Amino acid sequence: MTTTGGLEAIAARAEAEIAAAPDEAALDALRVRYVGRREGEITAALKELPKLPAAERPVYGAAANAARARIEAALEARAGAIRAAALERDLGAEATDLTLPPRRVRVGRYHPITQTIREITRIFAGMGFEAVEGPEVEWDYYNFEALNIPPGHPARDKFNTLWIAQEASVAMAVAAAGAGRPRAQSSSTQPMLLRTHTSPMQIRTMEQRRPPVRIVVPGRCFRFEATDTTHESVFFQLEGLAIDEQLSMADLKGVLYSFARQLFGGDRKVRFRPDYFPFTEPSAEIAFDCFVCDGSGRTNEGGCRTCGATGWIEIAGCGMVHPEALRRVGYDPAKYQGFAWGGGVERIAMLLTGTPDIRLFHQNDLRYLESV
Ligand code: DAH
Repeated sequence: MTTTGGLEAIAARAEAEIAAAPDEAALDALRVRYVGRREGEITAALKELPKLPAAERPVYGAAANAARARIEAALEARAGAIRAAALERDLGAEATDLTLPPRRVRVGRYHPITQTIREITRIFAGMGFEAVEGPEVEWDYYNFEALNIPPGHPARDKFNTLWIAQEASVAMAVAAAGAGRPRAQSSSTQPMLLRTHTSPMQIRTMEQRRPPVRIVVPGRCFRFEATDTTHESVFFQLEGLAIDEQLSMADLKGVLYSFARQLFGGDRKVRFRPDYFPFTEPSAEIAFDCFVCDGSGRTNEGGCRTCGATGWIEIAGCGMVHPEALRRVGYDPAKYQGFAWGGGVERIAMLLTGTPDIRLFHQNDLRYLESV
């Protein structure tokens, strides 16, 4: 038989153990042990009640209830403390360090070559030139023959051509989008190549359209070349072609003069020097006076590096379309004339962005591409 003093001792022991319980599982075990409905020590003590003399029951009953109340309060307090400690621990682990730098948001942008092509085609669109594209895998016929460069012609030497192996040619021809077989040549032994310039699109376009024609052709070209700061074996050109009645060299000059001013600004001058291309007659090389030194060849630091101290920036080959090329596509050279030009896109992109080495464009190092 437990005495009232015994009940107080149980409560005190329970309080001490509860306060030391490390977690909820330990706490549950203590709850069962002291106040559990079946075997709890206090429960057992209450079951003794009927055995007591009636006069003692109220005092004993009150002592037992007081002991249970103390133990339950202790259980509740400890449970709250354990939950609070767990929460504190979790928050500590997930703490946000507001002193860390924010994660960078990367915003996409066009490659400098694409930007340059867009800018150039935008300017020519303003003068009525439509931008068209053509196949990168090309027939010998369009790349050379139709441009008055037959097999054995010395002009072939300046194009270090990447040829497609003969067996592969026919399969490639089918695969290459838009690389329709030349009308004039139906032999399956026609060699194929990676186009060395965008000029073949002059012939392809004229075959498909009647004058007037006004197109620009931006596109990737390929040459078997050792690379250096100004040469890559994969590069871009931009071609232009206008065919109409009564076009002359003056129209060619006017169009390219306007282009130079719109692209490089100011009072750009245009220089034409005689040149030779088999598909134009006469042919010329166009240069703009340097937009950095204003054509003087000198800056405050000395010789102008942009133009190599010459005052001029050579930009493209050009000329009046050869009558033979017109005849080949069924245009009457007595009725129609045209002018054409073609030049490197990287050259212009390098000038506009101050890029010293052409290879920076294709290495695709974002640290560089994002800086221009
Ligand atoms: N296709 C020539 C080249 O790659 C450049 C060229 C010269 C294009 C004269 C033309 C032109 O359209 O008329 O060297």
